[in-house]
Amino acid sequence: MRLDDLAAIGALDGHGVRHVLAAFPAQCRDATELAARPAVPVRQPALVVVAAMGGSAASGDLLAACVAERLSVPVIIHRGYGLPAAAVGDTLVIASSYSGDTAEVVAAARAAVARALPMVTVTTGGALAALAREHGVAQVTLPAGLMPRMALGYLFFPLLRILADAGLEVVSPAEAAEALDVVGEMACGLAPERPSAANEAKQLALTMATRTPAIYGGPVTGAVAYRWKTDLAENAKVFALAGTLPEMNHNEIEAWQGTAARAMQAVLLRDHQEAPEIARRFDVLRQLIEPAAGGVVETWARGKSRLARLLSLAYLGEWTSYYVAMLRGVDPWPIPLLDELKRRTQS
Ligand code: F6R
Repeated sequence: MRLDDLAAIGALDGHGVRHVLAAFPAQCRDATELAARPAVPVRQPALVVVAAMGGSAASGDLLAACVAERLSVPVIIHRGYGLPAAAVGDTLVIASSYSGDTAEVVAAARAAVARALPMVTVTTGGALAALAREHGVAQVTLPAGLMPRMALGYLFFPLLRILADAGLEVVSPAEAAEALDVVGEMACGLAPERPSAANEAKQLALTMATRTPAIYGGPVTGAVAYRWKTDLAENAKVFALAGTLPEMNHNEIEAWQGTAARAMQAVLLRDHQEAPEIARRFDVLRQLIEPAAGGVVETWARGKSRLARLLSLAYLGEWTSYYVAMLRGVDPWPIPLLDELKRRTQS
């Protein structure tokens, strides 16, 4: 498919994912209004555990990347059943599941109830909302109707609010406002109506049309590299690698040799605020892998605050995976294998 063929895009994208992505800035803005009812049950927790999977867990990764700059309180993103042993006493548990029916997260919430831990649920409904109602747990109720991975705004901004209400401010109101402005400014430039010649997401997708993407971030943007990988898997149904510098310099770099590297497209998620030693590592990495690689391309985070930089890259990744889906003739909405796996494993 030609990415500037709007009729072909409309025919393939029958669920209107392009409209959901175009509305992402508005989703983020609406999400800043969402708060827990009843109020967050703890002040100054010693540990925060975000229990979530998949697209819901991506919001936790974003939170952890923002928190690392500011908080002395550890934030653990727990992807699995139950809760870690460290979750005791004044640990705040945030059980986040867009559908509310993800077995691992419901099990984590049950464990939090059993340990009498302060908890907030973040969901549209399902078993998680029922559990919250039964036990009087504080709830953030999200608008329904989206695919979880397309609800990053709804899933993420309430986490900031929950932490602020617990006395842990991670992102200032000015920084949140900047992040909203940055994604708002990006929206038109990434939409299907913007031709490939002036659309960065389409250009990035074209580099991956016939190659396997390998997305590498730095110490800050690495959290978003993993999000690109999962968006590429779920939206475009393609394999992708994700890694972080400096760690990948110490192992995965060795795979960038020989004919196998020709089938790969490296995408480097750069950040104008990355430390000089990280910038140097990106530059040398590029010099070393480019001769063997199918392609190497860089893209730069926008905005000043860490949140704006991360959210801008996450948004670019959503659109890029969308266009990879279009190029491959794949509907970006359905996830039949994941649905079937949930169906067969739900107790
Ligand atoms: C689907 C998606 C998945 C889900 C995951 C957990 O769009 O992104 O990765 O997020 O299966 O489901 P929820 O988010 O409903 O708990």
